Amino acid sequence: MKKYFTQLSYLLDSQAKKTIPLLILSFLFSSVLDVIGVGLIGVFLGLLTNPHFFLQKFPDLAFLLQGLSEKKIIGLFGVLIIVAFAVKAILTLLIQAKVIFFCQLLLVRLKNRMMIAYQYAPYTYHLQRNSSYLISRIQDNIGSFIGNVFLPLLNLISSGFIAISILSLLAILHPFITLFLVSMFFSVGLVFDLFVKQKLSSMGKIVSLSNGEMIKTIHHSLHGLTEIRVLGREDYFLQWLSKISHRYAHAAGILVALQQIPRYLIENMIAIFIIGLTLGGIAAGFSISGVVAMVGMFAAAGARLLPTVTQIMSAINQIRGYLYQTQLVYEELVELESITKGSKKIKSLYQKFDKLTFSTIFLSNVNYQYPHTDYSALKNVNITLHKGQSIGLVGPSGAGKSTLVNVILGFLEPESGQLLIDGKPIDNLREWLNNFAYIPQIIFLLDDTLRRNIALGIDDHEIDEDRITKVIQMAQLTEVVQQLPEGVDTLLGENGVRLSGGQRQRVALARAFYHERDVIIMDEATSSLDHETEQEVINTIKTLKGNKTLIVIAHRLSTVENCDILLRLEKGRITKVGSFADVVGISS
Ligand SMILES: Nc1ncnc2c1ncn2[C@@H]1O[C@H](COP(=O)(O)OP(=O)(O)OP(=O)(O)O)[C@@H](O)[C@H]1O
Ligand SMILES: [Mg+2]
Repeated sequence: MKKYFTQLSYLLDSQAKKTIPLLILSFLFSSVLDVIGVGLIGVFLGLLTNPHFFLQKFPDLAFLLQGLSEKKIIGLFGVLIIVAFAVKAILTLLIQAKVIFFCQLLLVRLKNRMMIAYQYAPYTYHLQRNSSYLISRIQDNIGSFIGNVFLPLLNLISSGFIAISILSLLAILHPFITLFLVSMFFSVGLVFDLFVKQKLSSMGKIVSLSNGEMIKTIHHSLHGLTEIRVLGREDYFLQWLSKISHRYAHAAGILVALQQIPRYLIENMIAIFIIGLTLGGIAAGFSISGVVAMVGMFAAAGARLLPTVTQIMSAINQIRGYLYQTQLVYEELVELESITKGSKKIKSLYQKFDKLTFSTIFLSNVNYQYPHTDYSALKNVNITLHKGQSIGLVGPSGAGKSTLVNVILGFLEPESGQLLIDGKPIDNLREWLNNFAYIPQIIFLLDDTLRRNIALGIDDHEIDEDRITKVIQMAQLTEVVQQLPEGVDTLLGENGVRLSGGQRQRVALARAFYHERDVIIMDEATSSLDHETEQEVINTIKTLKGNKTLIVIAHRLSTVENCDILLRLEKGRITKVGSFADVVGISS
């Protein structure tokens, strides 16, 4: 139990913690109104069967009704009940609205918190996670925590107050019968609990896991549409999705069905109780009017208790079924937030900083090993790179070229050895990254306009139009833009499907220029670089040489022919450094 409260307390922010006591107070107030309503019905029924009932029960209040006829007294109580119920309905509605808005806003804040945690998570964290699960965490698990754990918990508190208040009223009037009623509720609850507890949590787990799996499968089959269609393997993904959806549907069905059971159990129990009470009262020799007043009171209370106790039991079951998802959200947030809070370097990512000016990048005896691998991706790498140089990085696939670039970017921390900038280690990662633009072979493009793709992450009203025109020229995109139906306002489609590979690369370059990055890293991840794109890279190197620092990863030596310096990497080691002629082994 304590464990769950720790989780809850961690997931609620200070704003929520301030609002909760107010909500609880309003629940308490609303439950008092409920009792007044039920009490008035009891009095009303008493009056019907015995007009002197009120005066006998409350002789001190007799002066209030002096001079009124029986009919008028009954009418007065009738109106009082109508007014009390109307006031209570309006108040309950207002409280409910407040609760719903509170939960929705909390949901937004929690999603934001998770998104921040993912965005600033260490690079290695993302290397080991499938993005579908992260999407499911934000979209599904957080939603479930709010909708299926937190909201039911609030309902539980509110219903708990109502049940306690009504039962207290009944206990004052008929202590033994009330005790009997309460024990009935408890035994039904306990028996139900005994049988379904385990089932609820196991079904909850399946619901959560299969949801993540569904998102992953949909993502795969849409992302790999072309390859899958050419191979004709659509069936495999369809069947897989159908299998997981069935598993999900089965578990979710059981979960919902189990949550319905308490309602019917309690409904039956109250019916048996009321009939039993009536027959018992008559058998014990009570007058019919006495039995009617007592049974009427319990019936009125029962009508209110039925939804309340049902809500309590379903809330408990619902919370149980979805605790697993809460735990996932909690564990992920704790893990990520403890890293981001602890690390000065990552913390700096949240703020705005200028560029860290530098003249040399030095890697001293750098070794790097990926998590869960038993070999080093970089071994004793010693290199010095100067600002303004164009550097070609060549070597076979798997040699460690991308790893090296990630170490330079500060994304991967060397196992041993150091990355030194003008002799000093990086203190503020944001300042350091502000120097870079990273252009992988598969370029990330928003399904949005060319303008927004160039000025990535900048609000429309802050985009500098002159600068857009200038960087389009610099990236030799002018002709491409002229051919686009709506110029810079043309939508590029998902992953820029409307552009060729070379054009996409130039958009990425324009982006680097717009953001005024001095060091441009181009990572040609595979050897499938076509001739046109290779020529683009060669041209880029020629035009940028001298202006920008370039780090170009290439598979073909011809691509980096014009670079000032070439590094050859093999199995994680630098095997050659020098000019093109030095590395290729020919004299120029
Ligand atoms: N996330 C990862 N987890 C574990 N091992 C990895 C990971 N990324 C890369 N590696 C391994 O590290 C080594 C170097 O990989 P890297 O991606 O740096 O090679 P590369 O030279 O860029 O290859 P390519 O030219 O094919 O892009 C490889 O053996 C690779 O299998
Ligand atoms: Mg690579």
